[in-house]
Amino acid sequence: MQFQLSEEHLAVQEAARDFAQRQLKPGVIERDKNMEYPTDQIREMSELGFMGMMVDPQYGGGGMDTLSYVLAMEEISKIDNSCSVIMSVNNSLVCWGIQAHGTEEQKAKYLPKLATGEWIGAFCLSEPEAGSDATSQRTTAIDQGDHYLLNGTKNWITNGGTSKVHLVIAQTNPELGYKGINAFIVETDWEGVQVGAKEDKLGIRSSDTHTIMYSDVKVPKENRIGEDGFGFTFAMKTLSGGRIGIAAQALGIAGGAYELSLAYSQERKAFGKEISRHQAIAFKLADMATEIEAAKMMVYRAAWLKDQHMDYSTASAMAKLYASGVAMRHTVEAVQIHGGYGFVKEYHVERLMRDAKITQIYEGTSEVQKIVISRSILKGQPYISTVNQSSLENA
Ligand code: CAA
Repeated sequence: MQFQLSEEHLAVQEAARDFAQRQLKPGVIERDKNMEYPTDQIREMSELGFMGMMVDPQYGGGGMDTLSYVLAMEEISKIDNSCSVIMSVNNSLVCWGIQAHGTEEQKAKYLPKLATGEWIGAFCLSEPEAGSDATSQRTTAIDQGDHYLLNGTKNWITNGGTSKVHLVIAQTNPELGYKGINAFIVETDWEGVQVGAKEDKLGIRSSDTHTIMYSDVKVPKENRIGEDGFGFTFAMKTLSGGRIGIAAQALGIAGGAYELSLAYSQERKAFGKEISRHQAIAFKLADMATEIEAAKMMVYRAAWLKDQHMDYSTASAMAKLYASGVAMRHTVEAVQIHGGYGFVKEYHVERLMRDAKITQIYEGTSEVQKIVISRSILKGQPYISTVNQSSLENA
């Protein structure tokens, strides 16, 4: 068993850490306060290759493994979670979805622009009445011979206002239930695609989250992903990878809150000594460090399973469930350690606490992760501490 990062992984981690500290930290408080989209920051992240890290180099991507992506997500999420969610959706939902399941033509047409950040993508599954209950899609795509006619409304769409490409999940044959669902690549400048108002959110405030309306949008047949009826499986498989990205985001949030709390507690004095030397604070730091370490093992392992082409859906659900809980608990503790200073924007921990909450909601709530995990246990799928390759196929 290896617990050491390779030279390449360490280089990615250091590059992301350095970039986040130098380029994302200045201005992050203002961008959050003003709900200002990080245009310049996303351009720089694109130039540095953060928007298509796992995409095959033949399509303009970085050709890196999932662990590299996780390490970059973690470092960027210590500082700016609006940037990291934009990055996460583009990398692990949109680029990965097309790379893993698209046709050669779809990959050649869309990946070079998405992987370089020239275009940003969005993943359009959630609807006003279909969130956790994702099979209840109301958006329809009716077969018209050479194209589908797409109608419906999607909400909570990250990158909704800035994306050029949507992966849209829609019902093509309601009688077939989830087997009648398909996924489509839709370009946002096609007639009938309309972007609703930007949501005013608790956290990740400078990312753009919108409702999207489709009205009689003509989607060419060649833009359907996979065989007819593959759409729900596509969404689930893609989200299994996406959840590793959100787990990495949660890990970064917790890590950022911990690093700030450790530094503050070693400077701030009360009752004649640094507060880190009071057991009340020292024990909080011990709990934080221990749980962050446990979350790290789970997140890195889920990434490793994906890189080994093994089944990672249960591991990614567990990693997201656990890491998002750690992020929520320990950002609250970070605010407590900072006392009154933790309650004001200048010290960053209140923003991390607000950002942590969404990691328990998007890409499947904590309750949805428990559905995924419990069904896998009850199906008798062995959840293993050592991997049994023969029992785990089909990433
Ligand atoms: N891989 C392959 N197939 C899968 C799968 C997976 N990971 N998960 C489920 N399936 C298959 C099932 O095996 C089943 O097929 P069979 O009948 O042939 O066995 C089929 O899909 C239907 O699955 P379920 O019966 O489990 O479906 P369900 O209605 O009970 O729902 C659920 C299961 C886990 C709750 C699912 O609906 C779900 O994940 N919901 C949450 C959706 C979600 O994560 N939304 C997030 C929105 S995206 C977002 O947040 C992006 C953003 O902008 C940040």
